[in-house]
Amino acid sequence: MLKPEWIDLSIDAQKNAYVPYSKFPVGAALVAKDGTVIQGCNIENASFGLTNCAERTAIFKAVSSGIKEFQYLVISGNTPEPISPCGACRQVIAEFCDPDMPVTLVGHDKVQKHTTVEGLLPYMFTSKDL
Ligand code: THU
Repeated sequence: MLKPEWIDLSIDAQKNAYVPYSKFPVGAALVAKDGTVIQGCNIENASFGLTNCAERTAIFKAVSSGIKEFQYLVISGNTPEPISPCGACRQVIAEFCDPDMPVTLVGHDKVQKHTTVEGLLPYMFTSKDL
């Protein structure tokens, strides 16, 4: 069940976004199975392709801290409609999160869209395919 505080933590994470090029802050709150919430923000680079999106930052923070089991992901931006994660992030999310794990996408004024990992990436390529 989505907790309102996870939405707030995702929005709060936007304050650390390093976005001198796009001026497009994104925040993420990744909830571990034990309830720990890992926040992430986007981190850009003068070499634009090296940008790390907010949700990948959260996943990499978690995994590098030894946390690999998750129950919920919230991604927030200041867009009129709920933000939509990029294809690369969808693949990284699918690596670590179950297909039926809920994902909430949040836009301006907390407008929300509720989906799942599989909803974001149907027919996903995973370790099961190898
Ligand atoms: N971005 C994210 O951090 N997450 C998303 O889900 C979509 C896009 C970032 C990447 C870049 O810093 C900025 O948004 C504009 O593309």
